[in-house]
Amino acid sequence: MTSPVSDNKPVRVDLGARGYDIHIGPDMIERAGGLIGPFLRRPKTVVVTDSNLADRHLDTLVTALDDENIAVSTIVVPPGEASKSVTELGRVCEALIEAGIERRDTIIAFGGGVVGDLAGFAAASVHRGIDFVQIPTTLLAQVDSSVGGKTGINLSHGKNLVGAFHQPVLVLADTGVLDTLPEREIRAGYAEVVKYAFIDNRIFFDWLEVNAAAVLDRSGMEREYAIRQSCLSKAAIVAADEREGGSRALLNLGHTFGHALEAAIGYTGELLHGEAVAIGTALAFDLSARLGFSSPADAETAIAHLARAGLPTGISSLSNRLPNAQGLVRLMGNDKKVVGGAKTLVLLRGLGGAFLTGDVRDSVLEEFLAEKLNP
Ligand SMILES: NC(=O)c1ccc[n+]([C@@H]2O[C@H](COP(=O)([O-])OP(=O)(O)OC[C@H]3O[C@@H](n4cnc5c(N)ncnc54)[C@H](O)[C@@H]3O)[C@@H](O)[C@H]2O)c1
Ligand SMILES: [Zn+2]
Repeated sequence: MTSPVSDNKPVRVDLGARGYDIHIGPDMIERAGGLIGPFLRRPKTVVVTDSNLADRHLDTLVTALDDENIAVSTIVVPPGEASKSVTELGRVCEALIEAGIERRDTIIAFGGGVVGDLAGFAAASVHRGIDFVQIPTTLLAQVDSSVGGKTGINLSHGKNLVGAFHQPVLVLADTGVLDTLPEREIRAGYAEVVKYAFIDNRIFFDWLEVNAAAVLDRSGMEREYAIRQSCLSKAAIVAADEREGGSRALLNLGHTFGHALEAAIGYTGELLHGEAVAIGTALAFDLSARLGFSSPADAETAIAHLARAGLPTGISSLSNRLPNAQGLVRLMGNDKKVVGGAKTLVLLRGLGGAFLTGDVRDSVLEEFLAEKLNP
């Protein structure tokens, strides 16, 4: 698997009547008109985007739609997590109605995970649900948030507390658009790429051990291949368990720890979601080794891989910004994945061997985190 074969076939998310294709390649925005056209019942659509995309790539998308005689209106939201709010949702919904959107029309979410989650939830809500297309523009959104149908916004009580499952009708992952994405965002998205390898794909991990630098450094074959592999993984997991009754929870590898860190630090950009996930994944490996599920060598290999990708892997450097271990465990308990008070953790039996467990006692977690905060 050292030299990825170019395979232009879309990745299918097999959900029966709600199934859809993910097209991956360097020129998806230029081709958007032709690809989206067949999904439109009338030649009119509304693009929801953020101002960073509006400045850089919106013209290309509008021209591509225009070339197919598709009329476009645009709704631009401020960039950043703060836009996943009740206020911004209200503004987007009002603007959609003002733009004349009808029940049988289609919205295009053009941006990172913030725009995808917000516009997707607006699409789920306006007229009780209209179709939407995802055009994800961050690595994170291309490999994770644009696929699977989770949409939503945040409340002051926490992230993603209001939302809906609403699958897109099409996903266009344009690898060229990533050229303008800041390097730190690429690295953060990479944490979700290698997550799929850690969950159940040792062969992909071995490939990433050789090719991570190429995936991170440039938009070439390797990056496209990594996006495709990630989408294949996500599509398979979502098709098996669309509403997270069971195995889809494996995608939360690194996230129960990670969400607690994000909640503690705040959503200001100081700690990006993918960075929190990288730390959470390192902690999951470390704890797995400590509890005897994983060999210490596998845990070391995984943590070294994340560090080589330029991702943070520990919490001691953040300790002055974090609560004590008890406080962190309490924040982990606020995660909405908690069922009846019991934390479900994703731990690992080695590289590619993720599993769910509700058996780790809080006292064990506290002792572990106390040591990690002050090694
Ligand atoms: N729905 C899901 O299944 C799911 C899964 C994972 C994460 N998420 C959500 O995704 C969000 C994070 O998404 P994100 O990491 O994409 O963040 P983001 O949407 O905030 O984008 C990151 C930054 O990059 C900018 N940007 C986006 N594309 C760009 C481009 N091509 N060139 C230059 N700048 C660009 C954005 O304007 C923003 O400033 C979180 O809210 C998280 O909860 C959702
Ligand atoms: Zn994530």
